[in-house]
Amino acid sequence: MPEFNPSQLQYGGDYNPDQWSRDVWLEDVTLMREAGVNLVTLGVFAWANIEFAEGDYHFDWLDEIFELLHENGIGVDLATATASPPAWLTVKYPEVLPVTASGTRLSHGGRQGYCASSPIYRERAKALAEQLAKRYGNHPALKMWHVNNEYGCHNPMCFCDVSAASWRRYLRERYGALDELNKAWGTSFWSQRYHHWDEILPPRQTPDGTYPNPSMMLDYYRFSNDEILSLFTMERDAIRAVDPLHPITTNFMTMKHTKFMNYWKWAEEVDFVSTDHYLIADDVDNHIDLAFEADLTRGWAKGKPWLLMEHSTSAVNWQNVNLAKLDGQMLKNSLSHVARGSEGAMFFQWRASVSGSEKFHSAMVSHTGTDSRTWRNVVELGEKLAELSDVTGTDTEPAQVAIMFDYESWWALSQKNLPSDNIDYTHLAHEWYATLWQLGVRVDFVSPKASAAELSKYPLVLAPMLYLMSEQTEAQLIEYAENHGSLVVSYFSGISNERDTVKLGGYGGKLVREILGVFVEEFSPLLPEATQVLSNGMAAHRWSEVSEARGAQVLASFTDGAASGSVAIAKRQGSKPSWYLATSLEQQSLRNFFTQVVQELQLVTAGGNGVEVVKRGSRVFEIDHNSGTISF
Ligand code: GLA
Repeated sequence: MPEFNPSQLQYGGDYNPDQWSRDVWLEDVTLMREAGVNLVTLGVFAWANIEFAEGDYHFDWLDEIFELLHENGIGVDLATATASPPAWLTVKYPEVLPVTASGTRLSHGGRQGYCASSPIYRERAKALAEQLAKRYGNHPALKMWHVNNEYGCHNPMCFCDVSAASWRRYLRERYGALDELNKAWGTSFWSQRYHHWDEILPPRQTPDGTYPNPSMMLDYYRFSNDEILSLFTMERDAIRAVDPLHPITTNFMTMKHTKFMNYWKWAEEVDFVSTDHYLIADDVDNHIDLAFEADLTRGWAKGKPWLLMEHSTSAVNWQNVNLAKLDGQMLKNSLSHVARGSEGAMFFQWRASVSGSEKFHSAMVSHTGTDSRTWRNVVELGEKLAELSDVTGTDTEPAQVAIMFDYESWWALSQKNLPSDNIDYTHLAHEWYATLWQLGVRVDFVSPKASAAELSKYPLVLAPMLYLMSEQTEAQLIEYAENHGSLVVSYFSGISNERDTVKLGGYGGKLVREILGVFVEEFSPLLPEATQVLSNGMAAHRWSEVSEARGAQVLASFTDGAASGSVAIAKRQGSKPSWYLATSLEQQSLRNFFTQVVQELQLVTAGGNGVEVVKRGSRVFEIDHNSGTISF
């Protein structure tokens, strides 16, 4: 497997020269050199400018650009241009277009307008990837391959008949016998039993006020993820057959609400992880969100080099109000990623478009040109990255705390008919992460498949709302808590198995009942505006539950409502202490809770209260979000 081992930090962005005339290309390379750009991502959305009709390829402009970039010492991350099928393809084969859950076939005109199961899309995408690999696989400017773009961003699920056939094939493979599927989905409920495979449809829109079977829906998330991932591996293998030397990646999406792709799985298929991150402008703590996402990316990469493939120099174009970045914010954002292991800082995009729906998205070269704050920032960042080249190839110092992050729990909790609409998987994970960030405690991320041995590297493992818990995950967590370290587990964890079948005999399964020592018998979620003061004076919201301690020490109990007197916070002594949080603590209380945990476990802290301190290689990055100062 070719490795991604750059000799310097990568700097540049998406480059779309096909939107510009040749005289602009010359200015581009001059400016790229001025800014210290050493890598550009070429041709992400260029399919229609390369293939004019089926099999009618035009590479002249790409040939020229390759030469020009090479002459100027700029490397190429070549996209396979398959992210947006051209109009000729969807006119000739309209069945390529995706269909929504309510049966509407979408039109050409945006981007990513294809169904992942479409054999025609697959055939044409593979052919294009092969053509590009044959033509540019040996070009000295080529540094890496960039397959498609942000898979599943706009078309994470398709509900057409072609998808339905593929879905049935997937289910046959997963369950073998129809009876197994009926058992897994609990189809004795609401007359949902299947007597023949052909009766199974995708989870299309159901009558008002009802929703598809949740276990089926969960499998549709899995199927859709795997189907899209197989698009990637198809292109990857087509390139690899021609060019065995250059690493192949595809850019993941680390934005707060991108849930459809299970990147633990994707990370196993790419030669190296790359990702895109955009700030949510109206989130005042969006730098903490950035740190969360960068640490999560580092988790997927498992200590191997990864790359921030896109972020923005300033405003984006797709939020309600697209705030410009403050002075110094871009530098802080880029360095916060580099501190967490990114082998550089790349942007969308090099030069701001003048037409199309992204014309008001910031870029490295803005509409104003070089007489601008953006350009000065871009040149400054290029200088800093050059100064930092010694961190290239080094890892960030591992944290002492790990969050177990699980897409499948997120998928199950994204559905309807749960005890409350007021519980949110990623929200809770973010709250815990942010609290520790403010306490100066760094956090790594681990997959629910992590073994007890992997977990044992951490004195503390957190399981916020790990709703689905397979036997295997539960066994590893138990082994960890009994022999290696401390757990903090939240309410609504371990409720169902991987089929979303509820575990009987006390909610939370063996982990909560026997290891954490709390017997939970009924949920009692709180109304959105309700706050409850617990017996220890802490403030809680969103959740309570009727329970009793069976082995745990009760640190706080609920004081009101159906759960009055039940366990709110419990502690249990295993090899080390572990905690069960049966509610969502409000900000200050959560901080107090984690302060106690950190003190008791004697975890190392650095920075905190708005200051992040991250060690990478021989550098200590210190980014002070209060004063704006940065040192490294
Ligand atoms: C995504 C895409 C880019 C661009 C940016 C805009 O990350 O990959 O092509 O559309 O969003 O923020």
